[in-house]
Amino acid sequence: MARRDLSNFTIRPMHKKDIGAVSELAMLANPYAKEDKYREHIVDELEENPDLAFVAVDKDRVVGYVQGDTRGSKTTLEDIAVAKEYQGMGIGQQLLKTELTALKKRGSKMVFAEVHYKNAGAIPFYYKNSFRIIGFLQDYFGAGDDAVILKLVF
Ligand SMILES: CC(C)(COP(=O)(O)OP(=O)(O)OC[C@H]1O[C@@H](n2cnc3c(N)ncnc32)[C@H](O)[C@@H]1OP(=O)(O)O)[C@@H](O)C(=O)NCCC(=O)NCCS
Repeated sequence: MARRDLSNFTIRPMHKKDIGAVSELAMLANPYAKEDKYREHIVDELEENPDLAFVAVDKDRVVGYVQGDTRGSKTTLEDIAVAKEYQGMGIGQQLLKTELTALKKRGSKMVFAEVHYKNAGAIPFYYKNSFRIIGFLQDYFGAGDDAVILKLVF
């Protein structure tokens, strides 16, 4: 398969105009969610934590995003997703690095990631970035929608 030309690729803060594209991508990371309802959650997070929301853009197309949330000492990597045809090209890695830098600026000392069991394929990605599994929560996202919990200590 030919490699994509990423010479016009960039990572920038998320804006309200990105919400449509981000909501679609969010379905990759949240297989239990309904897009319309989840869109509200993305907007709320963006309003609460605008400095923790980023998009990956290729030639004006939003192809990935990451969002974080901090409450007191608890920091959560809300979501990270890259469009299927752009996966495996290092974009997720760059988004995560950008997010972790922003979280450090906020003074976070540890980060949690809550991964739906259907997204267990992403666990090696987190391990590559020094996250470790610390447990699981049954029915965390709703009945039957269990979560694997990972943690990174800076
Ligand atoms: C998980 C996800 C964000 C990774 O993004 P990506 O752009 O494909 O990942 P990258 O190309 O930046 O990969 C970074 C590293 O992680 C590894 N990695 C990524 N996905 C992997 C997988 N499924 N299995 C094993 N390793 C993986 C890569 O091999 C790479 O390591 P390398 O540098 O040694 O080659 C992306 O696959 C995705 O959007 N998945 C669907 C949504 C999801 O599951 N989100 C996480 C739960 S919130």
